[in-house]
Amino acid sequence: MTDSGHAFPAEEIIARVVRPEIRGLSAYVVAKADGGGNAGQPWTKIDAMENPYPLPEAVQARMSAALSRVAINSYPDGSGEGVKRSLRSALGIPQGAGILLGNGSDELIQLIVSALAKPGAVVLAPEPSFVMYRMDALYAATRFVGVPLSPDFSLDRDAMLAAIERESPAVVFIAYPNNPTGNLFSERDIEAVVAASPGLVVIDEAYSAFADASFLDRVLEFPNLLLLRTLSKVGMAGVRLGYAVANPAWVTQLNKLRQPYNVNAFTQAAVEALLSDTRWIAEQAAAIRAERARVESALAGLPDVRVHATQTNFVLARVNDATRIFDGLKARRILIKNLHGWHPLLENFLRITVGTPAENDRLIAALTELAPSP
Ligand SMILES: Cc1ncc(COP(=O)(O)O)c(C=O)c1O
Repeated sequence: MTDSGHAFPAEEIIARVVRPEIRGLSAYVVAKADGGGNAGQPWTKIDAMENPYPLPEAVQARMSAALSRVAINSYPDGSGEGVKRSLRSALGIPQGAGILLGNGSDELIQLIVSALAKPGAVVLAPEPSFVMYRMDALYAATRFVGVPLSPDFSLDRDAMLAAIERESPAVVFIAYPNNPTGNLFSERDIEAVVAASPGLVVIDEAYSAFADASFLDRVLEFPNLLLLRTLSKVGMAGVRLGYAVANPAWVTQLNKLRQPYNVNAFTQAAVEALLSDTRWIAEQAAAIRAERARVESALAGLPDVRVHATQTNFVLARVNDATRIFDGLKARRILIKNLHGWHPLLENFLRITVGTPAENDRLIAALTELAPSP
């Protein structure tokens, strides 16, 4: 007996009813830039693919005015029509394509997997790739099949096609460009995957603002293609808005699983104000691309650092001892992502988000001290 009179303690009830694969998980930990290193000095947090620039003053003022008018006593517009209009006019969404809004594209990935998670269904993706494809399959009690990338991080086309033939996946996820490897897969390989897939193919273009290619214009060409985008990497990670673009028939089905008010009124008002002029987004993305090139070339000049060019807002580098470099940066209050241990292809890889010029200077100076193996 517990104090409440209930026959069993919480742990015992949990052990009985919570699925073992969920009990076996640890919660997603977001790294915090605090503790350790030289106390007093500010942290350089370049681990989460955030845009490092604040909003320009005029955009900030526009957003503040819009937020002050939000009527929080009412539910938001459940279908987010104003946001969809803004996205269509600001971001070149093809005429005739349907749009589905999500609380970040994370929510849309989960919603897609749960819509397709029939008993026996398979979720397939190349690996290493965005970890949520695997996690959302697990949450939906659906089998995940990972197909290793080639050692040069290109799609292993033969292995992908063989796996699609063998597994008949309900959905294939392809991040384009890929996270964490940063590269764009070949368009021909993706076309082959889409043609061979009996189910849905999701092309996740979270990093499209920093890439030279996209499938957005082609989304209606294929009956089984859904494109995912997000505002997170272009300066608006805090508003939490992701969107799917696809043949409207897909949107109709997926919309049935969406929580009625998944995009809150503040987000909707903010996004409409933020997108009423998109020059600031293009300018910041261009600045990030320019800094990416500068960081890549500075790192490529260091001993024992091999840079893998990316089409994203992060830099990918292989070093001799990723954990030593990661710890050395942390002691200098610089937080990046150590990919070592994530996947055999990522041995001694580091992922470094492109920061402001000053942050990047700090990173380059610290790596210059740390790079040569002791
Ligand atoms: C490939 C990819 N897709 C989706 C997301 C999730 O983005 P959001 O902030 O829209 O949930 C990320 C975030 O890192 C990502 O790397």
